[in-house]
Amino acid sequence: MSFRENAKIIKTGCLGIGVYEIWFETSDIAKAAKPGQFISVYSADGSRLLPRPISICAIVDNKLRIVYRTVGAGTKEFSSMKEGESLSIQGPLGNGYDVNATYASKDAIIFGGGIGIPPMLELAKQLNCKKQIVLGYKDELFLNEEFEKYGTVTIATEDGSCGTKGNVLDAVKAHNIKGDVIYACGPMPMLRAIKAYALENNIECYISLEEKMACGIGACLACVCKSKDIDDHSKVHNKRVCKEGPVFNAKEVEI
Ligand code: FES
Repeated sequence: MSFRENAKIIKTGCLGIGVYEIWFETSDIAKAAKPGQFISVYSADGSRLLPRPISICAIVDNKLRIVYRTVGAGTKEFSSMKEGESLSIQGPLGNGYDVNATYASKDAIIFGGGIGIPPMLELAKQLNCKKQIVLGYKDELFLNEEFEKYGTVTIATEDGSCGTKGNVLDAVKAHNIKGDVIYACGPMPMLRAIKAYALENNIECYISLEEKMACGIGACLACVCKSKDIDDHSKVHNKRVCKEGPVFNAKEVEI
């Protein structure tokens, strides 16, 4: 169940170049939210009708935190909002991570890449297991210190300015990181590589495909991905990332 609310902004901040956070006070959304879900944030400018889907980074009582990158006029507008102002938001939306599933007690490797890092923070907090957290950045780090409360953090940067030079799987090899279940969110090439790594090593793997979303409410079909579900007529069933996802078992979807 999701709710539309005019949510009061209780804190804002800049975490890096073009990376911002907003904390909202909500009536119902935070209480219903799970890690891996997202909210749709509506612009106050009526000319921008489509909301921006933004993943949930933290859930604390009735408060929600989002961390996002400014990529266009909508997100730039959000980054100029101040404490005490309000934004219209809808959520929680989509299918998040199931932290009560049997696999959730297994030793985990949590991967976050770029702006796919924020949703993994709440997951890291809620998973009750041994956690290896591998974060991939282009160059500038953000949120990495907050992950240290929840597990062992390993960093990879493209330019080699911190941690392993290369991508998150280079860091896994360099540090001989092992786990029995993988959770990942990040750019598509990273998710493809992680899916292949999980298949090769026979590791259960859950990925979040949220970078493909547009309207966020199941209406535009811009977010469909091919699934492995085939009906009696050999028709492949597409899945909407914003409705059936963004979190999928990696084996379920073709990416
Ligand atoms: Fe529009 Fe999913 S983003 S249907």
